[in-house]
Amino acid sequence: MDRFTPSPFFFFFFFFSSLLLLLLLAGQAAAQGSAPSSLAIFNDPATGYVYHGCYNETTDIPNTTGLRALHGGKVEIEPGRMTVRRCLEHCSTGAGDAQGGNTAPYAFAGLEYARECWCATSLSGLSARLADDECDLPCEGNQTQACGGNLKLSVYTLNSAARTAWSAAGLVAVGAAMSFALMQDGV
Ligand SMILES: *[C@@H]1O[C@H](CO)[C@@H](O)[C@H](O)[C@H]1NC(C)=O
Ligand SMILES: *[C@@H]1O[C@H](CO)[C@@H](O)[C@H](O)[C@H]1NC(C)=O
Ligand SMILES: *[C@@H]1O[C@H](CO)[C@@H](O)[C@H](O)[C@H]1NC(C)=O
Repeated sequence: MDRFTPSPFFFFFFFFSSLLLLLLLAGQAAAQGSAPSSLAIFNDPATGYVYHGCYNETTDIPNTTGLRALHGGKVEIEPGRMTVRRCLEHCSTGAGDAQGGNTAPYAFAGLEYARECWCATSLSGLSARLADDECDLPCEGNQTQACGGNLKLSVYTLNSAARTAWSAAGLVAVGAAMSFALMQDGV
């Protein structure tokens, strides 16, 4: 009996290590498959804004002379710190209002390239709506949140409650200005 006979232990070892290898490979494939769509779309009604969609930047469209999808407002770039909430706070003041002041919120806010925040009173009609997962860059201030993409914007717009509140405020302001004018006339 000088022939080598493998022990039953060897067979168990072989079986379990093959099983382990298969499980590891399957796990890796699953992780790769789920990676791109893992970003959350921020939504908080208390901000006064609601998610509008993922939109195309318009700078490369012929004859727009490089005009942005959200232009004519303001922009803030915050490397390392930008989040959707920061952007919405930034855009929630600064647009012209009925009193001739600039305290009204911008109707649109858009996050682009992980760190840019664009505020505007309108969204260009040339900007195309894309699938939500095309806005695939995480915010630099919160890696779980979508902050647009390369030449793509996660766009937010004032929700109906905020719009109503601001048009009501505008009417009150116009009413106050009118009664002031009437008083002046009466004197
Ligand atoms: C990061 O973003 C996620 C998804 O929007 C949100 O649930 C979470 O509260 C945020 N974290 C912080 C610290 O703001
Ligand atoms: C988005 O914009 C880019 C650059 O203008 C353009 O090449 C692309 O076709 C646009 N995509 C859609 C869906 O409109
Ligand atoms: C852009 O403008 C040029 C010159 O006015 C015109 O010839 C061309 O057709 C325009 N292109 C588009 C896509 O509108």
